[in-house]
Amino acid sequence: MHAGLSSLLCVAALVLTAAIAQPAFAAASNPPSQVIQGIPAVNPVKQPWIWPLPQNWERGSNTLKVSERIRFEGKGARQPIISKAIKRYQNLMFKKEDYPMIPYNWSTTDNKPSRSSLNTVVIDIETTDDHLDMDTDESYTLTIPVNGKAVIQAETIYGALHGLETLSQLIQYFPERRSYYIPNVPWKISDFPKYKHRGILLDTSRHYYTVQEIEKIIDTLSWNKLNVFHWHMLDSTSFPYVSKKYPELAAKGAYSPRHVYTAKDIRQIVQYAKERGVRVIPEMEAPGHSTAWGYGIPEIASCLNTQPYFGYTVQPPAGQLNIAHPKTKEVVYGLIDEWAELFPDSFFHAAGDEVIMQCWSNDTYITDYLKKNNQTLMELFEEFVLDMEDHVRQKNKTVMVWQEMLLEYHFNLPKDTVIQVWIGSEGVKEVTEKGYKTIVSAQNFWYLDLGFGRPRSNPYPEVQGAGFNHWNRVYSYDMRANLTKEEADLILGAEATMWGELADPNNIEDRLWPRAAAFAERLWSGYENLKGESLISADAILRLLPWRERLVLRGVRAGPLNQGFCTRNPLDCFQPPNPNK
Ligand SMILES: *[C@@H]1O[C@H](CO)[C@@H](O)[C@H](O)[C@H]1NC(C)=O
Ligand SMILES: *[C@@H]1O[C@H](CO)[C@@H](O)[C@H](O)[C@H]1NC(C)=O
Ligand SMILES: *[C@@H]1O[C@H](CO)[C@@H](O)[C@H](O)[C@H]1NC(C)=O
Ligand SMILES: *[C@@H]1O[C@H](CO)[C@@H](O)[C@H](O)[C@H]1NC(C)=O
Ligand SMILES: *[C@@H]1O[C@H](CO)[C@@H](O)[C@H](O)[C@H]1NC(C)=O
Repeated sequence: MHAGLSSLLCVAALVLTAAIAQPAFAAASNPPSQVIQGIPAVNPVKQPWIWPLPQNWERGSNTLKVSERIRFEGKGARQPIISKAIKRYQNLMFKKEDYPMIPYNWSTTDNKPSRSSLNTVVIDIETTDDHLDMDTDESYTLTIPVNGKAVIQAETIYGALHGLETLSQLIQYFPERRSYYIPNVPWKISDFPKYKHRGILLDTSRHYYTVQEIEKIIDTLSWNKLNVFHWHMLDSTSFPYVSKKYPELAAKGAYSPRHVYTAKDIRQIVQYAKERGVRVIPEMEAPGHSTAWGYGIPEIASCLNTQPYFGYTVQPPAGQLNIAHPKTKEVVYGLIDEWAELFPDSFFHAAGDEVIMQCWSNDTYITDYLKKNNQTLMELFEEFVLDMEDHVRQKNKTVMVWQEMLLEYHFNLPKDTVIQVWIGSEGVKEVTEKGYKTIVSAQNFWYLDLGFGRPRSNPYPEVQGAGFNHWNRVYSYDMRANLTKEEADLILGAEATMWGELADPNNIEDRLWPRAAAFAERLWSGYENLKGESLISADAILRLLPWRERLVLRGVRAGPLNQGFCTRNPLDCFQPPNPNK
């Protein structure tokens, strides 16, 4: 899908203008110097530097020192997942930057930091049940008084983890004092996500990522309060999954014996993600995009490596599953059985996208089968995918599929199928007006891999780089556009995608961040605050700049949002357009 895309991309225009609705900084008459020092006496920041923005926040005007020996107590602090998280945050909270680019002293109001310091955080949770799923309560409250203990209160472990993240973002290093402070105490924050499903799709077939590289991405997801890692593990290009029942698939289909994921690797990643409040949803790409299956078990493939490949596939190499062969179902079901156990999540992605009919209509095994059974190719295709999805349902999983199943092939999908929209934002309307639940990955806004040239063209990539989704375009997209209230209620959430043609471990962090953070805020904070005021990119940029700096400080190679000058002097850069110019 993914790379091969439609011309839609080419028309995607960038919408870059941000109107600054109101001056966010009262201190504009007192521009910051190049090396920022001191704690100013004004409170110029309209919104706190918390990403994504909490639903509810109140702050005061004192500055509180934070002890580097901060202690955590309470029922929550003793729970194993949280106590591991505390160890991580004791490191993340205290990162020094002696010459910060951000005007960090803008966010405080108090010239004289309080004499007391924050030494203790109480973590209070209602339940120690560590089940993590779509319906897990992720809400939390965080209070930080001028004197005394801070308190994180949450229904679940996973809400408490979000509370820790928010707390860590309030802590700011002040180099001239060589200490850490929380500006604007007392704080009262109560927070929850607007959408339950907030994910990133990563493609590990076109390029391989090690377990550690995947884990680093999962860390960054959790810091952005994203909670789904959609693992597009398999595709035409390589088959890295080491199946117990069919080891020949990876033996012949992986790029090499090093480029594989064993059951142990998967369990490790699933556990790692869970400890960070992130669900792992596997996608079994079938029956399209599946050449690499055919290297290990040739009889389950059609048009395997047909040359030239034009007309048989959207991108090389050609090859789809042979949907008429009995062995194909056996293998697919066998893999579903293995994955249903390895991935405990209640969602399972059964793909179904971008098949090319000529691959099958050119295969005499399939054409003979159709004749013998008096079936059309479409009937056989529908039977194959509906049976595959039923097999997933028998594992008590909710089936996710790509939009073509419903909108292009009009298959008779049960109403409990969750449809992932990708081809364009208009699909969200089409899917929800048919009454299906949806997860939105509209490529004209939330495909983060696009805009670097179209790699499928032969013999050389086209130079044109249409379709780049700038952070502000990512932020601008309202999934509810053109929907009725009932239709909008069918949106479970969204995923930003990172297909693998032009991304690998060397550039993945720059490709994802900070744009995926812009996406994350839409999913967590939504489009309006609780007073009904729109969240706008002109305000967001003033928080996204310091958030990007914080990600970098945490070791993420996030790309810059603009010149360093603009990080230092946001109001000198991000100004309303002048209507007379
Ligand atoms: C930050 O601190 C410096 C040094 O005290 C001061 O000159 C500057 O005005 C402060 N920044 C703001 C925005 O007040
Ligand atoms: C498959 O395609 C080739 C090349 O176009 C053609 O010669 C052949 O007849 C086709 N086979 C079938 C069964 O359609
Ligand atoms: C094949 O199927 C069609 C449509 O279902 C039906 O009209 C026709 O009678 C069938 N032919 C045979 C030989 O069964
Ligand atoms: C699915 O759920 C039903 C009812 O809760 C249960 O009886 C059955 O064992 C479950 N099946 C699997 C494969 O987990
Ligand atoms: C809303 O509908 C209009 C008119 O059909 C269309 O042009 C626009 O792209 C739609 N908006 C989104 C975000 O899909």
